[in-house]
Amino acid sequence: MESCRKIAARMVAPGKGVLAADESIGTMSARLEAAGVAAGAENRRAYRELLARTPGLADSASGVILCEETLNQAFADGTPFPQALHAAGVLPGIKVDTGARPCPGLPGETVTEGLDGLPGRLAGYVEAGAAFAKWRAVFTVSDTLPTAGAVRVNTIALARYAAACHEAGLVPIVEPEVLMDGAHPIERCGQVTAAVHGELRRDLELLGVDLAGIVLKPNMVVEGRDHHERSTPEEVAEATAAVLRGWPRELAGVAFLSGGQPPERATANLEALQRHSTPFPLTFSFGRALVDPALAAWRGDAERVVDGQAALAERLAANATAVRRRGEL
Ligand code: 13P
Repeated sequence: MESCRKIAARMVAPGKGVLAADESIGTMSARLEAAGVAAGAENRRAYRELLARTPGLADSASGVILCEETLNQAFADGTPFPQALHAAGVLPGIKVDTGARPCPGLPGETVTEGLDGLPGRLAGYVEAGAAFAKWRAVFTVSDTLPTAGAVRVNTIALARYAAACHEAGLVPIVEPEVLMDGAHPIERCGQVTAAVHGELRRDLELLGVDLAGIVLKPNMVVEGRDHHERSTPEEVAEATAAVLRGWPRELAGVAFLSGGQPPERATANLEALQRHSTPFPLTFSFGRALVDPALAAWRGDAERVVDGQAALAERLAANATAVRRRGEL
């Protein structure tokens, strides 16, 4: 098996990013219904097949993150998703956390669960063909949140997950997401993101996690959604690069989440980030900023599969172009 370091390097290879199509059954069903598509296992499968069969996918995507349901589903021709993606030259990944749940003792905050029995589940995912994994921790911002307790429980869980992935031979995508909900200014997001990353680095080190074998998936540093003014791409890039300076050069790379930013804004911010020199690649692992336009174009209509794929291909190409331009800007 390819070593974790090699797979991680492949995931953040120049000009490529990772497509996040791993919404849980509940989230995916809600998004299908909002787009006027009946929610059910077959429509969730058909939508993921549309995404995975997008022509030229491997030119812009090094990997696709799946949820457990999709990992165990197959294309209409009977080929299981992981094997179909491998055949297309794209690495299949698997979301392994079981979701953010209210954290006892910390009102209004969550802890991401899924550590119980994780090694056994990871072995099964490797068997099914997964090459990498994902775990998402979320942090709510207010004047008083996140509390030190919420940061602690979540960064320890991320580190335990990462160590377990390495033992199983899977590359962990380590995703600490500071949410955009709220009216806070960009500086507050920067302060919280830096604090979370500091704790996360310490916990990864305590568990001896090889940073060259992980992909960090952070939020960009942006103002809260309800803040009265929008930061420019350069302001976002500057504030985000400042936080990333805390990471050592061994880190395999960074693949940002989009966090609910409009697709074009996420791309403009990603492009601005390429002007900042970092010792590791900075790419994308967007969910909504890549797939929302595809879902809106498809709307569950078999005759619009090509339109859905064209919408995804357009966003993938824009983001791949943004990260390909590193060094030219
Ligand atoms: P968004 O880009 O929509 O934030 O999703 C990324 C992701 O993988 C969330 O866990």
